[in-house]
Amino acid sequence: MSPFYFGWLRWIMVYNSSIRYIDDSLFIDGIDLASIVRQVSTPTYIYSLKRVGENYRRIREAFAPLAAQIHFSVKANGNLAILRSLSRAGAGFDCVSAGEIDRCLRAGAPAQDIVFAGVGKTRAEIAFAVSAGIGWFNVENLAELHYINSSADDLGVDAVKVALRLNPQVTANTHPYMATGHGAAKFGLTADVIRDILTRQSDYPRLSIAGIHIHIGSQLGDTAATLAALDAALDLLAAHPRIRTINLGGGLPVAYRAHDAQPSLGDLVSELIPRLAGYDVLLEPGRSIVADAGLLVAELLYVKRQAGQVFYIIDASMAELIRPALYDAHHEVAPLRKTDREPVVAQVVGPVCESADVLARDRELPALQAGDHVALMTAGAYGMSMASNYNARPRPAEVVVSESGDNWRVSRRRETFDDLAQSDK
Ligand SMILES: Cc1ncc(COP(=O)(O)O)c(C=O)c1O
Repeated sequence: MSPFYFGWLRWIMVYNSSIRYIDDSLFIDGIDLASIVRQVSTPTYIYSLKRVGENYRRIREAFAPLAAQIHFSVKANGNLAILRSLSRAGAGFDCVSAGEIDRCLRAGAPAQDIVFAGVGKTRAEIAFAVSAGIGWFNVENLAELHYINSSADDLGVDAVKVALRLNPQVTANTHPYMATGHGAAKFGLTADVIRDILTRQSDYPRLSIAGIHIHIGSQLGDTAATLAALDAALDLLAAHPRIRTINLGGGLPVAYRAHDAQPSLGDLVSELIPRLAGYDVLLEPGRSIVADAGLLVAELLYVKRQAGQVFYIIDASMAELIRPALYDAHHEVAPLRKTDREPVVAQVVGPVCESADVLARDRELPALQAGDHVALMTAGAYGMSMASNYNARPRPAEVVVSESGDNWRVSRRRETFDDLAQSDK
């Protein structure tokens, strides 16, 4: 039996409830991906609104014993159709810029359902958020409190709700670029600073300091650091029983490898229940709601054999999907049409002039030809939202497949050269 045979055995038919092969064609819900590519071309992000909704409900139900309010973290994916769909389903939103707040408002989200985090909010952003009437500021800086208070004063607004972001000095089990809760990180306030603020609340008469926020990182590998961070927050709050809200941030992990099971939330929730009795709980999941609902479709431009390697040069790059270059992240690569050609071990690379422009290393894939199409899987989070115009590449189109799963539309058109040039003088 050829070793490749084992390779073929590893091929899977079903990625999740929305993305799977039917016969030899890769489908998203009821739609053959190739039929979208014929009309929209590549590279293109394609999202299943059905899967987004399922992920949202799965998390909401898992955290139901805590009655947690879910705020989708917009940085993971700011597509307006996704924001609208989540807002209709009852989600709030976690934003890190006035631009993200604006998108949520345009998507029809009530301002009260928006929380505003971020280590460097400008005074203009603060004024924008106060005048919009957002639900919460997650504050990371002493001076920020003064700015919010004076903005509220200028606008005549009272009781602006604030959660203080604690830097709990715990190191999450994740990629170092995604760990935000360790002492050397720029994020949050130390426990001492928070204690001090809580004894001087009268310095901020327009504010209601009513919560503690912790977010220790993304794609968290286990629950230990989250629980340690929460314990640090509870310790701090023991002397301040008036504060009844804890925002646990995001970070719920996602399975990026085809054979990894979807991480279960049950263990985390059962550890949280006894600790959080009597608290109002907010969550800010991003990745876990959208990652596996989206993929990036690309065309194979060239097959290049060089230095003993096979390079599949595709028309998507680190400009459209930076995660492999930035975090050494893994995305499965799936051909839109299965073939029975012998597999090869390939380097899947983009056209950008950087050696880091590798989307997948040493991947066993079928022998593909120029003109074939592949999907980079689990690309719905931190894909398009981190895309750039590097190398003057217009950003890709985004397609959404409806919640019913049987029709699709371009929700954001592909950028043009005119889009790229229009702001230059
Ligand atoms: C403050 C905050 N909340 C929520 C999130 C969302 O994290 P994730 O997408 O891992 O759920 C992030 C991501 O970095 C964040 O910085």
